[in-house]
Amino acid sequence: MSENAVHGMNVTIRIQRFTPVPEREHARRHSSSPFGGKARGGSPFGSSSSRRRIRGKHFTQDYHIEARAGQTVLDCLLEIKRNIDPTLAFRYSCGHGICGSDAVSINGTPTLLCTAKVEDYNNPTSSQSNGANSSTNDGFRKTTPAAYEADAGNSDSAAASGIIEIAPLPGFPVLRDLIVDIDQMMNQIRKLEPYLKADGKLATTTDGQIDMFEYLQKPEELKRYELLSNCISCGICEGSCPVYAGGEAFIGPAALIADSRFINDSRDNATDQRLDAIATADGITACQSVRACSRECPRGIDVGEEMWQLTERVKSLQNR
Ligand code: SF4
Ligand code: FES
Repeated sequence: MSENAVHGMNVTIRIQRFTPVPEREHARRHSSSPFGGKARGGSPFGSSSSRRRIRGKHFTQDYHIEARAGQTVLDCLLEIKRNIDPTLAFRYSCGHGICGSDAVSINGTPTLLCTAKVEDYNNPTSSQSNGANSSTNDGFRKTTPAAYEADAGNSDSAAASGIIEIAPLPGFPVLRDLIVDIDQMMNQIRKLEPYLKADGKLATTTDGQIDMFEYLQKPEELKRYELLSNCISCGICEGSCPVYAGGEAFIGPAALIADSRFINDSRDNATDQRLDAIATADGITACQSVRACSRECPRGIDVGEEMWQLTERVKSLQNR
């Protein structure tokens, strides 16, 4: 048993916080105007947010706690919330890497709070080999200030000093502290109609009746999209993408993965329509094949490779 497991670790959790100021009355009236929002798809929750900037106060706050080996960064935040500062805001639900609701940036790397082990991010050695800072020799473009800082040999960086730095997921408007607005991502996913379109492919009985639940597939056909169906829409690939998180017009890798899941489903017969929908300047064309999106996907999806496959399929559709 390691010494840390017995004695615990003194951890400094440094959090980029944000307190919004209440919207003024006229701003509220403006946002409720049918012409005020830029959202491309309607949200069932009534928000029209795109990448709107919310006014408020940004500040950094340090919390000092004792953590045990095996604890997650989410455990630390829960301890802070319960025993030190109830005003700290963050989002989580399942606590087990399933719901995708707690994506943040830890030491510059987009990741889930509930799967990030304290010792991996508090220890300078393992922190250097985990996430954005590991990109020094792998040929990927750096996408975070922390990665650039590490490259520049800045010995004061959070990873080197053992401080765990937590910031909101890049590329998303911050609502409060570590809670970001994911409406735009969900609207983009919704826009690509991520449900089975199997018109005309319904199995029929011998007398011509629709036997509607017979969607037969071979194991190899299932294999083509099975992993993609595990996407939890956490937005980590979007927060890692220098195009999306950089604020460029791009539908984003999460929406494209949702599209690819049905494009690769042999039961779906809307493939051309789906490829056509993403063959736009802000669709797959905006992808620059940086492949940073592949590095941190918690479901093990090689997002960059899927983007490449979509690019190729769109090209062959256009060359037909
Ligand atoms: S592809 Fe991976 S990183 Fe991207 S939203 Fe889905 S689960 Fe998250
Ligand atoms: S809390 Fe559900 S994925 Fe982390």
